[in-house]
Amino acid sequence: KVPSIHHFYEDSFPVGVAVEPEQLEGIEGRIVDKHYNSIVAENVMKPISLQPEEGKFNWGPADKIVEFAEKNHMDLRFHTLVWHNQVPDWFFKDKDGNEMVDETDPKQREKNKKLLLKRLETHIKKVVKRYRDEVDAWDVVNEVIDPYASNDRGLRESKWYQITGTDYIKVAFETTRKYAGEDAKLYINDYNTNESPKREYLYDLVKEMLDQGVPIDGVGHQTHINVAWPSVESIRESIELFSSLGLDNQITELDMSVYPYPPSGEYKSYEEIPQEILDLQGQRYQEIFDLFEEMDDQISNVTLWGVADDKTWLDDRFNDQEVPGKDAPMPFDPNYNVKPAYWGIVDLLWLF
Ligand code: G3I
Repeated sequence: KVPSIHHFYEDSFPVGVAVEPEQLEGIEGRIVDKHYNSIVAENVMKPISLQPEEGKFNWGPADKIVEFAEKNHMDLRFHTLVWHNQVPDWFFKDKDGNEMVDETDPKQREKNKKLLLKRLETHIKKVVKRYRDEVDAWDVVNEVIDPYASNDRGLRESKWYQITGTDYIKVAFETTRKYAGEDAKLYINDYNTNESPKREYLYDLVKEMLDQGVPIDGVGHQTHINVAWPSVESIRESIELFSSLGLDNQITELDMSVYPYPPSGEYKSYEEIPQEILDLQGQRYQEIFDLFEEMDDQISNVTLWGVADDKTWLDDRFNDQEVPGKDAPMPFDPNYNVKPAYWGIVDLLWLF
């Protein structure tokens, strides 16, 4: 019997976890229920899952997560209304089935833009109306900044951008506000928000949008980090930067790879990961949660991106290795036992 993570932070913020619906049963379900008081779908609320074909909505898997949250009195984060990834192709095809991005005729391009924005509005309207009473925080747009983009504003050159400019961002926030209501909390979510020049590009975009009256309430900092990067200070600076715009902050996808970048995948099983790396990870989790706690007036949710080390998106990076490497970013090991990362999060690492 170990202490519950979310109880430890009950005076500061809810602590959440990303799940697939299958993880809400058995031992994983018990971990989720005991240790977390906020939840988010790892995949099943993305457009490709919710509306794989135009007008055909697939609510079942997402509903399961909503029901679990209700039953267990958990907060619910919605991830995500708009992304360049995991979005079905039909969004970006014109009525004749041609790729909108290939269109050269200005009149037809204008028509395409209208059609795409209409589809976006329809998607958001349907989804938001269904879940508005249960959702506490909406990731409205995800990863719209790309510091390596060919434009000078760091705007990701996704199909959304190529067809609509930044209008998709405005329309997404405005439509979400319209159907979710004034009290809904709307976030712009991204990774490496602590890193220059990305955070400055994000800052400039958000400021411009706020000046235009676009309803953004906060920044979601994904926080996919590793045992060597980034510094705790750079995370602090980024939270302060966005707070200075009057915005809320949420830590939306926290996990900590055991590999410095670029990941080598040299450990082929959990057992091969040196104890000193797992201990270091525990210390880093402790320092980072100390920071979040200290800044709890500026951070309203901290969510971990996964349940245990048996299943993590980080392992996908090693799929092409002959013997794929193993990562271990979570507080629970592949057998669902607590590990130093857990003890760091609940501030009891000193016991060991
Ligand atoms: O659903 C299909 C299944 O039908 C098929 O059999 C299987 C075979 O590979 O693939 C399944 O889709 C996978 C999907 O997860 C659902 O499991 C995709 O291949 C896989 O690429 C996808 O990965 C997800 C990834 O987003 C997609 O880019 C990860 O689970 C998910 O953790 C990750 O989450 C993202 C956040 O949304 C945004 N921030 C970064 C974060 C990590 O990449």
